[in-house]
Amino acid sequence: MKQSFEKGFFAPLPVLIIGTYDANGTPDAMNAAWGGQIGMTQISVSLSSKHKTTENIKLNKEFTVSFATADQIAACDYVGIVSGNDVENKLEKCGFTVTKSDKVNAPLIDQLPVAVECKVIEIQEEFNETRVVAEVVGLKADESVMTDGKVDYSKAGLVIYDTVTKCYRAVGGSVGAARSIGKQFAD
Ligand SMILES: Cc1cc2nc3c(=O)[nH]c(=O)nc-3n(C[C@H](O)[C@H](O)[C@H](O)COP(=O)(O)O)c2cc1C
Repeated sequence: MKQSFEKGFFAPLPVLIIGTYDANGTPDAMNAAWGGQIGMTQISVSLSSKHKTTENIKLNKEFTVSFATADQIAACDYVGIVSGNDVENKLEKCGFTVTKSDKVNAPLIDQLPVAVECKVIEIQEEFNETRVVAEVVGLKADESVMTDGKVDYSKAGLVIYDTVTKCYRAVGGSVGAARSIGKQFAD
């Protein structure tokens, strides 16, 4: 029997590493779990208004989102603990290096193999929260995570965030082909 709780959290949550530049061109990155895809081409992220990332996104209207990986999990966690407002060489401290995207004015994290490049469409401010809706204008993937010219997520080592135990969990293998395995119940 299912138990009922007074409040709940959406699960599983992604582990998104948002890359931005500040006014001086210094790269920053932060960890965000409150984000996801909207429709075919847009994403949304929900950010505290006091983060350096939020300031940078408002300034440039462009950012990247890299997907966190198990082999870089300590660095991915670090960028979610420490603010670029307090530690200027935040990325250097956790071993992240960056390359500027050719599509947006934002850094791609060299150590994370898959990232999307985003342009802001709308910013909604509510209390201390900034909700950003953005168009995905490009995708970057390392050759190390590709098979036959396509991104191969079995090679990427992605993780999700478990809000109950507050840990990162590895994404497992395929359990069925989408829009296909369910056909066994179709007439
Ligand atoms: C697992 C995890 C998930 C997080 N998710 C969010 C989020 O969705 N939105 C947010 O505003 N902050 C989130 N944070 C906190 C920011 O990543 C953190 O405050 C970071 O230091 C902000 O960095 P910045 O000031 O350099 O932008 C999360 C932190 C962790 C560890």
